[in-house]
Amino acid sequence: MSYNLLKGKKGIIFGALDSNSIAWKTAERVHEEGGTFVLTNAPVAMRMGQINELAEKTGSQIIPADATSEEDLQNLVEKSMEILGGKIDFVLHSIGMSINVRKGKHYTDQNYAWTQKGTDVSAMSFHKVMQTLYKADAMNEWGSIVALTYMAAQRVFPDYNDMADNKAYLESIARSFGYFFGRDKNVRVNTISQSPTPTTAGSGVKGFDGFIAYADKMSPLGNATALDCANYTVSLFSDLTKRVTLQNLYNDGGFSNMGVSDAVMETFMKED
Ligand code: NAI
Repeated sequence: MSYNLLKGKKGIIFGALDSNSIAWKTAERVHEEGGTFVLTNAPVAMRMGQINELAEKTGSQIIPADATSEEDLQNLVEKSMEILGGKIDFVLHSIGMSINVRKGKHYTDQNYAWTQKGTDVSAMSFHKVMQTLYKADAMNEWGSIVALTYMAAQRVFPDYNDMADNKAYLESIARSFGYFFGRDKNVRVNTISQSPTPTTAGSGVKGFDGFIAYADKMSPLGNATALDCANYTVSLFSDLTKRVTLQNLYNDGGFSNMGVSDAVMETFMKED
């Protein structure tokens, strides 16, 4: 259902790799709500070609940008304003990658070159995106910036590996930059902490199937889907959430406030 919540709003959406991507679903929902945007992803992800299908469907243009490159980001912001015909109202940072996770390197046996690369891609890129927008004065007043995160930033999930540290850093950047963006430009900055979701990035985590089933059983409303996340993001881009900022917002079916659920307890109860 469409409520026209984003009519006339212009934005940039990072991270749509394939139709499972949270950013993909978000782009579809933003389009339905009347928003227009530029799609962007790392040049290497572009070569897989699927993003063209999304661009066609949503009437969007694509600008490749490695989110760790200040030069690429400057080009992206400049070109986006040209294409969209003015300043930006919303930005989705939906980017995450750990080489240690991908190559099965244990948290206690890090390859630090990989750790550093993962931090740059998954967390520092968010600072770079915001600094580029801030310096170019590219955001409209009452604009909204959202990044996606996971609860391993607060609690231990052993197989989430160095991504846990990257997410803690990402959430801190949202607060720190959010202060300056709010004070100087009336722009809000938040992170959405999303349930485990079957995507390329998500499925890379060891034992993901068990993990997603456990989270589902623990959550009174069950796991939030990629579409649920897209809908929440639309609300944060809309004018209905104008003074929500510096927040880490859980979209997780209630998981983050649970101790244990009946469904999980059942698996530990001995038969009488
Ligand atoms: P995905 O694999 O579809 O998206 C990750 C995106 O990051 C890809 O499009 C990839 O090309 C992009 N990317 C990687 N390196 C990049 C670079 N240097 N420059 C620009 N883009 C780059 O997976 P998903 O799950 O949609 O991930 C989106 C966000 O949601 C990530 O921040 C992820 O950590 C977060 N998240 C995912 C959860 C899950 O279980 N899938 C749970 C909570 C948060």
